[in-house]
Amino acid sequence: MNAIRTAPFCPAPDHVPADTSPRTPAVSTKLPKVGTTIFTVMSALAQEHDAVNLGQGFPDFGCDPKLVECLTAAMQAGHNQYPPMAGVSVLREAIADKIERLYGRRYDPAQEITVTAGATQAILTAILAVVRPGDEVIVLEPCYDSYVPNIELAGGTVVRVPLTPGTFRPDFDRIAAALTPRTRAILINSPHNPSGMVWTREEMLRLQELLDPTDVLLISDEVYEHMVYDGRQHESVARFPALAARSFIVSSFGKTYHVTGWKVGYVAAPAPLTAEFRKVHQFNVFTVNTPVQHGLSAYMTDPRPYLELPAFYQRKRDLFREGLKRTRLRMLPGEGTYFQCVDISAVSDLNEADFCTWLTTEIGVAAIPLSAFYGNGYDQRVVRFCFAKKDETLHTALQRLARL
Ligand SMILES: Cc1ncc(COP(=O)(O)O)c(C=O)c1O
Repeated sequence: MNAIRTAPFCPAPDHVPADTSPRTPAVSTKLPKVGTTIFTVMSALAQEHDAVNLGQGFPDFGCDPKLVECLTAAMQAGHNQYPPMAGVSVLREAIADKIERLYGRRYDPAQEITVTAGATQAILTAILAVVRPGDEVIVLEPCYDSYVPNIELAGGTVVRVPLTPGTFRPDFDRIAAALTPRTRAILINSPHNPSGMVWTREEMLRLQELLDPTDVLLISDEVYEHMVYDGRQHESVARFPALAARSFIVSSFGKTYHVTGWKVGYVAAPAPLTAEFRKVHQFNVFTVNTPVQHGLSAYMTDPRPYLELPAFYQRKRDLFREGLKRTRLRMLPGEGTYFQCVDISAVSDLNEADFCTWLTTEIGVAAIPLSAFYGNGYDQRVVRFCFAKKDETLHTALQRLARL
């Protein structure tokens, strides 16, 4: 015992000295399936090949200069120290007013609205607040890539239910079949990334009816709430009292105001759910960027920017779809979001991921394979483009795609 302990410190003359350099202890990963995301991979490939990047979902144009003025004014006014944990009250008031004006439900800014570091933190925090090891959480695939690792970090069991292939509409028989006494929550996302599908009022009512006899919580990711087209309305959970009573509603200023890098969003939830949410939030980020919150609240006094957003993006969607008609890519419906999906089967025999690599390197346009949004890599020969781009960017991409 003693010899074993002292051996490394008393090497024999011909002994190779032990490596004494600092050693990082081995860590067994909590998220074995998580690697570099397809978004990072495709963006790097796009840069390397000077391709037009319609892969990752962010605008390549600036935000309204008035928003920057509001932020600058907030900094100059000295709003630069920690804000209250739940967010500055003027912003929570502005959020509550907006939700009430648009969707008819009044959330109490003091007890039911929390400002977050983007929707990503909001979703993780909601999951950590309510999901315990062994709880089941339903996700509807294809889905945003943070949901599954978030559930796994909370020790929950992911229950994957596919949206109907081709239409991406919710399949209520399958959702009903997935509900068990262990189901703690279900995550929905409308308008939907990646498909652009928008839930209808009838679908929301079906969900309400389905969850009514249960204690299942709902996490509703509504970050694209202001991007719905052709006269549709966004069916926020806030419009449905029985759903709202069991829900965390998540949204993001990054999407609405073209400032994805600001990373500010919010959660609206009934007081008992918000109380649990804030317990995790306060030891997660504690608070969110003060001047940005003041800047946003000043900017929100004018509702036009978000009221005019559907028309702004619908025009871009139409421009992009018009150009796609000159290719053999078959367009799927584009009801909402700033994404347009296309079926590639008339153009190529490649699988989605290989097609996206080929499209980036040979045609000069980057896209994202839908298989990246499924746990099992399900390949339906559909890829996603982002049209939140300057018109000239879209024209360049379309000129290149016209070769297909
Ligand atoms: C469906 C969905 N949810 C959440 C987010 C994250 O939003 P944020 O940037 O505010 O964290 C995104 C961003 O792409 C998204 O597409």
